[in-house]
Amino acid sequence: MGFTSLLYISAVFLTLSSVSNACPPSDRAALLAFKAALHEPYLGIFNSWTGTDCCHNWYGVSCDQETYRVADINLRGESEDPIFEKAHRAGYMTGTISPEICKLTRLSSLTIADWKGISGTIPPCIASLPFLRILDLIGNRLTGEIPADIGRLSRLSVLNVADNQLSGTIPRSLTNLSSLMHLDLRSNIISGTIPRNFGQLRMLSRALLSKNKLNGPIPYSIPYIYRLSDLDLSFNQLSGPIPDSLGKMAVLATLNLDGNQLSGTIPPTLINSRISILNLSRNGLEGYIPDAFGPRSYFSALDLSFNKLKGRIPKSISSATYIGHLDVSHNHLCGPIPTGSPFDHLEASSFTYNDCLCGKPLRTC
Ligand SMILES: *[C@@H]1O[C@H](CO)[C@@H](O)[C@H](O)[C@H]1NC(C)=O
Ligand SMILES: *[C@@H]1O[C@H](CO)[C@@H](O)[C@H](O)[C@H]1NC(C)=O
Repeated sequence: MGFTSLLYISAVFLTLSSVSNACPPSDRAALLAFKAALHEPYLGIFNSWTGTDCCHNWYGVSCDQETYRVADINLRGESEDPIFEKAHRAGYMTGTISPEICKLTRLSSLTIADWKGISGTIPPCIASLPFLRILDLIGNRLTGEIPADIGRLSRLSVLNVADNQLSGTIPRSLTNLSSLMHLDLRSNIISGTIPRNFGQLRMLSRALLSKNKLNGPIPYSIPYIYRLSDLDLSFNQLSGPIPDSLGKMAVLATLNLDGNQLSGTIPPTLINSRISILNLSRNGLEGYIPDAFGPRSYFSALDLSFNKLKGRIPKSISSATYIGHLDVSHNHLCGPIPTGSPFDHLEASSFTYNDCLCGKPLRTC
């Protein structure tokens, strides 16, 4: 091999390696456009976003080790990072999320969380990022709708848009997110019904939809989500009965349905289940408290207050293994309060505002 060709080869090698060891100019340009649409006045988190190599020392940015494409954007307004300690304050940021971010086509996680002041919409083009696994935009002031095409994100496992001002309905495509494990839509103004085929989200372990304006029934397909451990539908306008198969779910541990317009009776299956936090408060539930407690009943909290329940507190409740917090107040219950270990520590407020309950801790019968 001649000296010139050797020189040539090393020149090519040097050029290639210097290109591939830094972020591509197009990724850098997309990040700078993203930054330009935001205003962060207190911490200076974007001060480090200078120079050509966005893969090194740009605050909150990290790249794939092999491709040197931007893979993660992680910007949290509440964090233990020294930058926050120095400023003695939580983060605050205004502006919007630029659609230029969609040019980062290898993005795997996008976290822009708890900045309180970021407004505008979620750019619909986000749904075209094929590698996105985490989309966490909690705690901003985002408006508009969840992108209609969100279901295209076949790798998405975390979708968290809680604490914003998103409106519209749950997109029909959302139930196509077959990798979704954690869904958090809490505290928005999302209306319409929960999709009937919600149970198609087989990987889901937490579904938090509370504090929206969802109406209609609880879908009968939900119990098919066999990994679901935490279902929070509280403070919506849901109506109709509680599906009794919710009580047969393998790992469901928290079921919050409080603050809706649910009617019908309490399914006995819920009482003798894996559920340890059950909140059915503030609905229109009627009939009796099911006489279905047994050794499998283990409640750290059981809240049935503010319904239209009548009759006695069932005797079987004494056979529950544990009831940490019980609230049956504001119903139409009557008769003696059972005795036994689950009741020894309860206060009168657990039982007040009923028709004629009596016995410890209320007045003697
Ligand atoms: C969900 O995915 C299926 C299969 O890819 C597709 O045919 C359907 O149109 C998608 N549904 C929505 C509402 O996007
Ligand atoms: C149940 O929900 C109500 C609101 O509807 C809330 O006030 C109460 O604290 C909850 N109960 C428990 C035990 O968390």
